[in-house]
Amino acid sequence: MILKNSSILLTGASSGIGRALALQLAEAGANLVLTARREHLLTALKEEILNESKNAKVYCVPGDITDLSVQERCIETVRENFGKLDALINNAGVGATALIEATSDDLARRLMEVNYFSALSLTRLAIPLLRNSADKNPMIVFLSSVVGFRGVPHYGAYGAAKFAITGLSESLRAELLGDGIDVLLVSPGTTNTEFFDALLESSSKPNMPNHNRVSPESVAKKIVAAMKRRKKRIIPYFQAQILYYLNRAFPGLTDRVMSWYR
Ligand SMILES: NC(=O)c1ccc[n+]([C@@H]2O[C@H](COP(=O)([O-])OP(=O)(O)OC[C@H]3O[C@@H](n4cnc5c(N)ncnc54)[C@H](OP(=O)(O)O)[C@@H]3O)[C@@H](O)[C@H]2O)c1
Repeated sequence: MILKNSSILLTGASSGIGRALALQLAEAGANLVLTARREHLLTALKEEILNESKNAKVYCVPGDITDLSVQERCIETVRENFGKLDALINNAGVGATALIEATSDDLARRLMEVNYFSALSLTRLAIPLLRNSADKNPMIVFLSSVVGFRGVPHYGAYGAAKFAITGLSESLRAELLGDGIDVLLVSPGTTNTEFFDALLESSSKPNMPNHNRVSPESVAKKIVAAMKRRKKRIIPYFQAQILYYLNRAFPGLTDRVMSWYR
């Protein structure tokens, strides 16, 4: 897609991958509606963008993305200021570490609400505006995860929400093919963001080897490149790419490898 003068709605913009994406998209000439709960971080990000890209148009919608009225305000802000939408990026997300047998229904439902249901309903609201796009190929981007294509101990409930995103993106891509709306699925691995400090619960600790954490800037750079090239899927983490193919070719062996993380 063409980013210059495009209009993009980005969730989870206040930190990590979302923040890095906002800066890089603005640098590429995109106009933005940014949303997340922490208003002061959104305001500071807006100022930073306007300092660097004087002509950029940036609007902030603070609030909890699971709240339908916040989603509707995001859509209304796009409609009023841009009249069309060229890309929706469903990036907001939160994790938790807990073994399945210790996972409460409340925790599992909240993980689904933030990671899956909010993306589902915001996407539903955004599709009519994406159909107004001047771009021949507007785009919906979903942030899933490595645990959204391969189950990993301690990340069961979070992973289930990300598997739901993976399935949603595939159905949607097929449904929207005739409309020219592209769907990009991003499955990051360990990225150095606030994600691990913001876990809703950490009642257990994965017995993980020390994975190196890639920077949110490098992940954002790969997402921006994938948007420009209209890619369908990226895994911006080398070990996660290996895991993807290992799991497809040798699922039983991969189960054994994963059991070491228990
Ligand atoms: N970091 C990783 O290793 C990793 C790996 C795989 C996938 N991911 C996925 O990548 C995406 C970005 O995460 P990140 O790593 O950049 O983590 P992050 O720094 O914690 O960013 C998460 C963003 O989501 C927002 N958010 C969380 N809950 C929200 C809610 N209820 N309502 C509105 N906004 C909410 C946060 O903003 P507020 O707190 O201000 O609301 C923040 O802007 C997420 O979908 C995550 O699941 C991350």
